[in-house]
Amino acid sequence: MSKQFDVVVIGGGPGGYVAAIRAAQLGFNTACIDEWKNDKGGPAPGGTCTNVGCIPSKALLQSSEYFEHAGHSFADHGIGLKDLSIDVAKMLGRKDAVVKQNNEGILYLFKKNKVSFFHGRGAFLKAGDSGYEIQVTGATEEIISGKHIILATGSNARSLPGAAFDEDKILSNDGALRIGAVPKRLGVIGSGVIGLEMGSVWRRLGADVTVLEGLPTFLGAVDQQIAKEAHKSFTKQGLKIELGVKIDKVTSGKSSVTVTYANAKGEATKLEVDKLIVSIGRVPNTIGLNPETVGLKLDERGAIAVDDHCRTNLPNVWAVGDVVRGPMLAHKAEEEGVAVAERIAGQHPHVNFNTVPWVIYTSPEIAWVGQTEQQLKAEGREFKAGTFPFLANGRARAMGDTTGMVKMLADAKTDEILGVHIVGPFASELIAEAVVAMEFKASAEDIARICHAHPSLSESTKEAALAVDKRTLNF
Ligand code: FAD
Ligand code: NAI
Repeated sequence: MSKQFDVVVIGGGPGGYVAAIRAAQLGFNTACIDEWKNDKGGPAPGGTCTNVGCIPSKALLQSSEYFEHAGHSFADHGIGLKDLSIDVAKMLGRKDAVVKQNNEGILYLFKKNKVSFFHGRGAFLKAGDSGYEIQVTGATEEIISGKHIILATGSNARSLPGAAFDEDKILSNDGALRIGAVPKRLGVIGSGVIGLEMGSVWRRLGADVTVLEGLPTFLGAVDQQIAKEAHKSFTKQGLKIELGVKIDKVTSGKSSVTVTYANAKGEATKLEVDKLIVSIGRVPNTIGLNPETVGLKLDERGAIAVDDHCRTNLPNVWAVGDVVRGPMLAHKAEEEGVAVAERIAGQHPHVNFNTVPWVIYTSPEIAWVGQTEQQLKAEGREFKAGTFPFLANGRARAMGDTTGMVKMLADAKTDEILGVHIVGPFASELIAEAVVAMEFKASAEDIARICHAHPSLSESTKEAALAVDKRTLNF
């Protein structure tokens, strides 16, 4: 007789492990199956985010930013350094230790919340009257069954046709986080989130980085005033960004990779690099899940088809995170995971896609929530815009980091905040205030009337709100 659970979660990334914890909190007998292995073959729950995504990339961004500061901005503060160097092995070791801490943290949380963890791959075996049988294979070999199944199997990096990832010279996010020595020449295909974050890491450490982007617009989904400011900064830092290219082929040689492409003018061009990161988006992952066994429907992109409430076409089977529609973000996956557990418990949660924040952890950081100016214009919605530059913010001046601005967009009549866009220091933290404001349907005037600590970067958000009404105090 197989072990019976109320809820079985397949996938232990941010969508899955959080869903499992919430389900257990709600009193369900819950299991979570995850197949990720650490370098010793042991369990490493946390998914892409913890193992080869959010957490390790932020660890390397932090290390490389310290290195950049030490080399460039410390002198302005009167701090002298001789013989600055980077120990890449140590930096990677620290990153691995941070990842391990997070893996262990999740295993601890499973224990604390009495979630049964199974290390292995979960696959549909069959559907029965009282739920679904799931075959676990790998480190654990077992059949378990669940009345409710939550699928959170995540996504994988998309490769370029004819240029499979070898993780040595042609790198996905995985290899990009494990380059053992600073490459002299680094190529990046795709100037999206991964391309800019990983390109920044290795540029700061001394690589000559060229980013090739297919679209003619830089960060097309970002408010274009913000994107232009970011582009200016990245270019000044030495990141070479070529827009509107068409990749022809990628040839891997003995010690280098050559990318042949047409540049924006249509001219045939070659780029030879030591390492090439391909970051052209990610594809939903259902490998090994056996969706066909139970008739689980996928959409045309290969994502598990779900409705607004993360229900699949099968009764009591739910799916969340990167494997379904919507932005591929850890916090979106988590929100969906929690909401599904609560729906199973008969509650009525709501995930508001309009207030999911985006952050790109470059320097300057880019963060936004809500609609961009170009989206509002396309919709024909009347709006007011207010911007405030960090150049006029006391804290930013004291920090010596005055790049960028806060931009607020509000409805022309009601003053409701429709979008907030930030490029500059700690944009990732500042955006939280905007998310709260939008979730509570605040007006720009609400933010303008709230007391913000002085001196703080958050005063720029208040000033941007004042700018919506054309009455900044400090600019
Ligand atoms: P995943 O995290 O991919 O987890 C899926 C898990 O399921 C994996 O552990 C996988 O092994 C397991 N699995 C799959 N199939 C099976 C099976 N059949 N049986 C058992 N286990 C299975 N997002 C942010 O919000 N902020 C960031 O800063 C950020 N940085 C990123 C940086 C990089 C380099 C990358 C690649 C991504 C980043 N993301 C970031 C995106 C984020 O990692 C994903 O949106 C998030 O991990 C999705 O969570 P998930 O739970 O849906 O899937
Ligand atoms: P992306 O979608 O952010 O960017 C891909 C870029 O590649 C786009 O600009 C696209 O136009 C370009 N592109 C696509 N095909 C191309 C081709 N053939 N030639 C040249 N350019 C091409 O995808 P990315 O960077 O791979 O990241 C995947 C996802 O992971 C992100 O969309 C995001 O959801 C998540 N992520 C989130 C992070 C964060 O929240 N800070 C950090 C990193 C990743």
